[in-house]
Amino acid sequence: MARLIRESFAAIEPKADELAQYFYGALFVVAPDCRALFPIAMTTQRNRLLRALVYVVQMVDRPDDLAPFLRQLGRDHRKFAVVARHYDAVGVALIEALKRFLKEKWTHEVESAWTAAYGLIAKTMREAAQAETEPAAWTATVIEHRRLTRDVALVKVRTDGLLPYRAGGYVSVEVPQRPRFWRYLSPANAPRGDGQLTFHVRAVPGGWVSGSIVSHTRPGDVWRIGPSMGMLNVRPTSARRRLLMIGGGTGITPLLAILDDLSHWKRNPPVHLFFGGRRPDDLYALDDLHRLAMASSWLTVTPVTEEGALAGGDRGTLAHAVTQRGTWRNHEVLVSGSPPMIQATIAKLLAGGVELERISYDPFTID
Ligand SMILES: Cc1cc2nc3c(=O)[nH]c(=O)nc-3n(C[C@H](O)[C@H](O)[C@H](O)COP(=O)(O)OP(=O)(O)OC[C@H]3O[C@@H](n4cnc5c(N)ncnc54)[C@H](O)[C@@H]3O)c2cc1C
Ligand code: HEM
Repeated sequence: MARLIRESFAAIEPKADELAQYFYGALFVVAPDCRALFPIAMTTQRNRLLRALVYVVQMVDRPDDLAPFLRQLGRDHRKFAVVARHYDAVGVALIEALKRFLKEKWTHEVESAWTAAYGLIAKTMREAAQAETEPAAWTATVIEHRRLTRDVALVKVRTDGLLPYRAGGYVSVEVPQRPRFWRYLSPANAPRGDGQLTFHVRAVPGGWVSGSIVSHTRPGDVWRIGPSMGMLNVRPTSARRRLLMIGGGTGITPLLAILDDLSHWKRNPPVHLFFGGRRPDDLYALDDLHRLAMASSWLTVTPVTEEGALAGGDRGTLAHAVTQRGTWRNHEVLVSGSPPMIQATIAKLLAGGVELERISYDPFTID
C-alpha cells in the first residue's frame, strides 16, 4: 500500500501546486463551510494541509510511530473547529484531485491504496478528537515580550486555566496579529502549575507569523494555544542512564524545558548538551545554559558553530561535532531542531552504534 502511494505521488509531485489548488477547490465545493477554517490569505501556503496529508499518508507503513502522532494531531485539529464530517470531505477532495492529476496512472490498486490509507489516518484522528475531554484550545495573555537577540524574542504568557503539558512538548499557537495562522512553538520552561509558558521565537525571513510575534507582540495580547503534542521527554524511569541532548537553533527550547524540569529533581542523571547554530550569535541561550551548568554539577554544555569560533566550543555541524566527541552508546539521546538537522544527527549516531530505541525526537514535526 505504502509503495503504491509513494510511487504514484512521485509521478505528480512536480505539479504539487496545481494539485493543491484543485484539492482546495474540490474541498470547498464538497463542504463550503470548510473555507472558514482556513486563513483568508492562502496564496503563499495553499498546500499546507495537502502537503501534510500526503506526507502522513506516505508513512502509513510506520503505524507504531504514526498512531500516537495522529492521535495528538486529531486532538489538536479541534482548535480549527474541524468536525467528523469534514474528514469525509477532505477524503473525497483528495481522491478527486489525485485521480485528475494521475490520469491513466490512476488504477484500481492505486485508488484502493490511497482510500485505505486515508481512511485509517482519518479514523485515528477522528476517534482521538471525539474521545478528548480537554478544551480544544486555551486562551493566554502575553505578560512579557523582550528581544533576546535581533531576531529572537522571548514571550511569556499566562493561560486561563491550566494547559497540561510535559517538559519537551510543543503546542500550536494563534496570535491576534495573524488570525487562523496556527504555528507550533515549544515552551522553554517546565510546567509550574501557575499557567505560565515562556516561548523563544525566531523571526524567519518572509515568515507570516514569526516576524509578527518578534516585532509586534505586546503585553496584554491574547493568544490561543492548542493542546500539548510531541514525543520528546525524560521521565524519571527512563533517566537512569546518562543523557545526551542535541539542540539546533530554537530547537533548543524543548531541551531547556527538560533541563528546567531536571533541575528540580532530587537526583539527576549526568547530561551532556550540545547546542548548535550557524554563527555564535545564533546560540542565543548560551549564557543562561553556562550559568545553569556552573550551578549544576550534572550538566556539561558544548556550543557548536559552523562559522566563527566560541571559547570551549566545537566547529562544524552538530552531527559532526557530537560524533567526534564520543560514541554515546551508553546514553539516552534527545535530538531537537530542524528536520534536516535531526535526520543528519540521527544517521551519524546510528552509524556510531547508538541504538534507535535510545534516541528520542519528534518524528513527524510537520509545519
Ligand atoms: C514541533 C515544532 C516546534 C517549533 N518550535 C518553535 C519554537 O519554539 N520557536 C520558533 O521560533 N519556532 C518554532 N517552530 C517553527 C515555527 O512553528 C514556524 O514554522 C516558524 O516560526 C515560521 O513560521 P512563519 O509563519 O513565520 O513562516 P511561514 O510563513 O510558515 O514560512 C515562510 C517561509 O519561511 C520558511 N521557513 C519556515 N520555517 C522556517 C524555519 N524554522 N527556518 C527557516 N525557514 C523557515 C518557509 O519554508 C517559507 O518559505 C517549531 C516548529 C515545529 C514543527
Ligand atoms: C485526515 C488527515 C489529516 C491530516 C494528516 C492533517 C494534517 C495537518 C497538518 C500536519 C497540518 C499543519 C499543522 C497545523 O497547522 O496544525 C494541518 C493543517 C490544517 N488542517 Fe489538517 N489534517 C487532516 C485533516 C483535516 C481535515 C479533515 C480538516 C478540515 C477541513 C483539516 C483542516 C486543517 C486546517 C484548517 C489546517 C490549517 C491550514 C493552514 O494553516 O493553511 N485537516 N493539517
